[in-house]
Amino acid sequence: MTNSKPLPHIVALTGAGISAESGIRTFRETGGLWENHKIEDVATPSGFKKDPALVWAFYKERYRNALNSKPNAGHLALVDLESMLQDRFQLITQNVDGLHSAAGNKHVLEMHGSLHRSFCISCKAIFAMTDIDLDMSLPKCVKCGANLRPDIVWFGEIPYALYEIEKIIKDSEIFLIIGTSGAVYPAAGFVMTAKHFGAKTIAVNLDPPDNRSFIDEFYQGKAGEILPQLVKSWIN
Ligand code: OAD
Ligand code: ZN
Repeated sequence: MTNSKPLPHIVALTGAGISAESGIRTFRETGGLWENHKIEDVATPSGFKKDPALVWAFYKERYRNALNSKPNAGHLALVDLESMLQDRFQLITQNVDGLHSAAGNKHVLEMHGSLHRSFCISCKAIFAMTDIDLDMSLPKCVKCGANLRPDIVWFGEIPYALYEIEKIIKDSEIFLIIGTSGAVYPAAGFVMTAKHFGAKTIAVNLDPPDNRSFIDEFYQGKAGEILPQLVKSWIN
């Protein structure tokens, strides 16, 4: 990939595996439990209805953990890729930790929301976590007084920006998948769309993902080790 050839349009999809080397545990590792909570209790609208303070305690912990984590070499390789491709690069992430933006990526779509934001369940006003009182067990909206909730897409909810994502993927020439099990839809199905519209599909993952059969080039190993080499080989 030299500068004399037109640069391809690359779309990257990331999952929990890219943040593993930053010390954030992946979902598969937790075996259906998150910090001893059932997923239904802390990651569904009905769990929030039942015990909103418990759900808030859980996400405050995850937010603090994300704040204490740093981007790793895998995240930084994607910043280098974006520096080269500029508007011809788009990052779609299932992660909510904010590490891609912290690393310096600009074109980031957080399809499962963000630990760094909350919104009002009544008037839908959005608040940065830094602007709300996290000492309250149940943070309230300063505009209307209703409960706030973490801006996370829970099970049973529709991910953000799906329409935009589909358009972006259709335009991609290389669809690069990093650190995701290929088990959770709709993200697990994006590779099929990419392939259908003619993109080359490349994956970097510790284990073969469930959608391996749709991947043209598979690099097995840690994102923080493989991705910098891969990006370097493209840039030079
Ligand atoms: P998973 O925990 O399902 O999968 C993580 C993947 O990363 C696995 O396939 C691992 O083999 C791989 N992995 C682990 N460490 C790695 C490393 N250092 N380098 C490269 N790969 C590594 O996480 P996701 O696929 O992101 O949704 O999960 C998808 C969605 O399921 C999440 O966004 C979440 C969850 O339910 C919501 O919360 C809405
Ligand atoms: Zn409100």
